[in-house]
Amino acid sequence: MMDKSKLSDPFEKARVEKGYGHMDDQNDPVTILLRHKDVRKTAHNWKTFQSGGEEVGRIVIPSEVKIRDTRQIPFEVDPPLHKEFRSLLDGWFKRPNEPAYQEKLHKQISALVDEVLNKDEVEVVRDFSLKLQSRALTLLLNTPFSESETWISWGTHVFRSEGESLDADKANILYNYIDERIIEAAKNPGEDLYSVLLGSEVNGKKLTHEEVKGIMILTFAGGRDTVINALTNSIAYFSEHPKSLHAIKENPEMINNAVEELIRYFAPLTHMGRVVTEDTQVCEHAIKADTRVSLCWASANRDAAVFENPNEVDFDRKMNPHVSFGFGTHNCLGATHARQIMRTLLGILAEKVASMDIINTDENIEELGEFDRKVGYNAITVKFNKY
Ligand code: HEM
Repeated sequence: MMDKSKLSDPFEKARVEKGYGHMDDQNDPVTILLRHKDVRKTAHNWKTFQSGGEEVGRIVIPSEVKIRDTRQIPFEVDPPLHKEFRSLLDGWFKRPNEPAYQEKLHKQISALVDEVLNKDEVEVVRDFSLKLQSRALTLLLNTPFSESETWISWGTHVFRSEGESLDADKANILYNYIDERIIEAAKNPGEDLYSVLLGSEVNGKKLTHEEVKGIMILTFAGGRDTVINALTNSIAYFSEHPKSLHAIKENPEMINNAVEELIRYFAPLTHMGRVVTEDTQVCEHAIKADTRVSLCWASANRDAAVFENPNEVDFDRKMNPHVSFGFGTHNCLGATHARQIMRTLLGILAEKVASMDIINTDENIEELGEFDRKVGYNAITVKFNKY
């Protein structure tokens, strides 16, 4: 059966018929915007659809208002201040384009693929994707490789535990760790991101501990489940589509398009919220001030008004204006790193792995009111086969 790796589109009917859906979230309901055009327009209009409101954590779904006071930066900051933070961060987050960075990343991923090729079976989420994501993050933060062992030991659910969507105790493991690392960097500055941020200014003022913490929390949180889902879904996909992997082996120049198409299809982050600042309308639907909307990247990516055969993975797709990394102001700061990880992985898989067999799967289904969306796997056991 060749359909375990499929991610179906639960939004189609509502997207075509109305353009939006509804979900409740801790008594703070969300209007989910489903069309590509509306998602992009709304993402662009940061005055009416705000990220940086007073209630920290409200744009995240499920809402983190009750479990977090630290503002995530630049995610929960609106223009014009947003731009000041992005100017500070953009250069650092483009380092994955440097050859030395790419060489180190290649070594890490190559070693991990060798490791799984020598095992009988591998639980991919825990023993492949989490390891790869954590090790690669040491390059982005410029911290010692050994730190990745701590992050791996937290497991995949540092923010979420099975059955409960939010778990303050688990989040505190991360927040306390980051506090300690910032205090340490303040005492002994080095070349890592904590130290660089502590030495930086925005609008002529040194960043505070709290601001550095807000940036670091986001770097950990934004780059964890998303990357793990992208990696795990890729392994599942190529297990069931060995010809696509062989095609990449024959034509490595198709890797960049393949990565964009996989990321469009997987949409590793389903949606993200905004707080509405005035009574307004989206696709002729009235939306009240002080309620929430979400921008549903996953639905926009399957919009037939923009993508031909949207439910097919097509590495030869000509136009691919997917919104998996967001759109406009808050577009993903980690996208360069995430893309480099995916490109490197595809190259190494194509070179070293003849085939992969899925042994069993435990799917991760998100419940979003009227929609259930498979976003990836809680666990998936795979046998990797060498040439
Ligand atoms: C395949 C992996 C990833 C996906 C699909 C993804 C997706 C997204 C999306 C959709 C947004 C826009 C949110 C919004 O408009 O409110 C975003 C923003 C962001 N992402 Fe990612 N992300 C990924 C990886 C990463 C990584 C690896 C990092 C860092 C380590 C990261 C850090 C951020 C940050 C800091 C922002 C906020 C940018 C801003 O507000 O200006 N992401 N991401």
